[in-house]
Amino acid sequence: MKQDLIVILDLGSTQNTVVARQIRELGVYSEIHPHDITADELKSFENLKGLILNGGENRIVGGKPVEVSPELYNIGCPVIAIDYPQAECEKQYNTLPDPAVLQKFIFEDCGAAANWNMKNFIEDQTELIRQQVGDKKVLLALSGGVDSSVVAAMLIKAIGQQLICVHVNHGLMRKNESESVVKVFRDELNANLIYVDASDRFLGKLERVADPEQKRKIIGSEFIRVFEEEARKLEGIDFLGQGTIYPDIIESGTKTAKMVKSHHNVGGLPEDLKFELVEPLKQLFKDEVRACGVELGLPHDMVYRQPFPGPGLGVRCLGAITRDRLEAVRESDAILREEFAKAGLDKKVWQYFTVAPDFKSVGMKNNARVLEYMIIIRAINTIDAMTASVEKVDWDVLERITERILAEVKNVNRVCYDMSPKPPATIEFE
Ligand code: XMP
Repeated sequence: MKQDLIVILDLGSTQNTVVARQIRELGVYSEIHPHDITADELKSFENLKGLILNGGENRIVGGKPVEVSPELYNIGCPVIAIDYPQAECEKQYNTLPDPAVLQKFIFEDCGAAANWNMKNFIEDQTELIRQQVGDKKVLLALSGGVDSSVVAAMLIKAIGQQLICVHVNHGLMRKNESESVVKVFRDELNANLIYVDASDRFLGKLERVADPEQKRKIIGSEFIRVFEEEARKLEGIDFLGQGTIYPDIIESGTKTAKMVKSHHNVGGLPEDLKFELVEPLKQLFKDEVRACGVELGLPHDMVYRQPFPGPGLGVRCLGAITRDRLEAVRESDAILREEFAKAGLDKKVWQYFTVAPDFKSVGMKNNARVLEYMIIIRAINTIDAMTASVEKVDWDVLERITERILAEVKNVNRVCYDMSPKPPATIEFE
């Protein structure tokens, strides 16, 4: 292994990620593991240099305090405890030690080297993936989102043709999105990629369905069904690659933390399709995932793209989806993105998109009154998507976008700008 490792054991602290980030900022790789990890598992980490028992407010689970196995104190590396009074180690702290103390522990007591960087991370993960997978095959649902793309690139580097990517085009992708997945992964990275155009199937299932939650359910379950059908056609697959990243794990609740929300990427596969998971990014924060993607040679646009909901344009073509209105959303979104990029706003604004409500408004075209769709532009800034403020887009830019949408997008005669912050509005419309 290229990188030294400090392990943080989660004993109910809400500060695990803060500690992990502090250590990574010092240039040392750190991982967070559950409190019930065994001494043998810890000993199997080649470059383990130190252990932090990180207790805290969620240390009582089911009426009992969470404890680590006493064997962990004798695995041969320095141990410190934070807010964990039962600890049997020399160094104990009631609260998070200040950075200088942490620095002293890591570099002097543990003798760790500051060798955490993406190059080394990728080399280490490549070796770990090869050890885990051997000569077996891995299946991956490649949506083209940041996480699945970076996992794909990592797995291609590690096991090449043993990775089989499945890209399901549900017909709700943005303009040229599926094409770019095929171009980057099949043509440039020589990936073993199965492309499934399931647009008609999805749009058929969604026909006349207006309820947003129902739409989401249909898109989610149909996705799993299509993926399952492809998986059944393949033989001899033992592993499933997943773009799980560290925030996904926190959001699902660790063994001590409160359950925040259940999270699954390709959860919901039938019981008889059993795969072992390969999750090489599960210890990375989002910014680190992007850095990893850049290091692996993925295009900047793919790695730094704005968040895009799983149900895609399906939740931006409001109410019951129709093909003409979906096309209006897709085309107007492409214009918005193009003009934002020209104005340099793509690097500044967190999320920007268009939506089309499910009604028509009256307008004049060729001296006749026509009922056509309305496009609403939304551009917001946020840190964590919990609250959001509206970007004050320059009037000239908005005018140019409006002119282009009205001239180039079929069936549209009106463009509006959404001025609502979150709360009370949400970022998406449904
Ligand atoms: P809201 O609309 O709740 O959105 O303010 C917050 C963030 O989440 C994204 N979003 C979704 N992402 N599946 C996803 O993967 C969904 O169903 C979904 N709904 C909203 C939204 O784009 C924003 O970034």
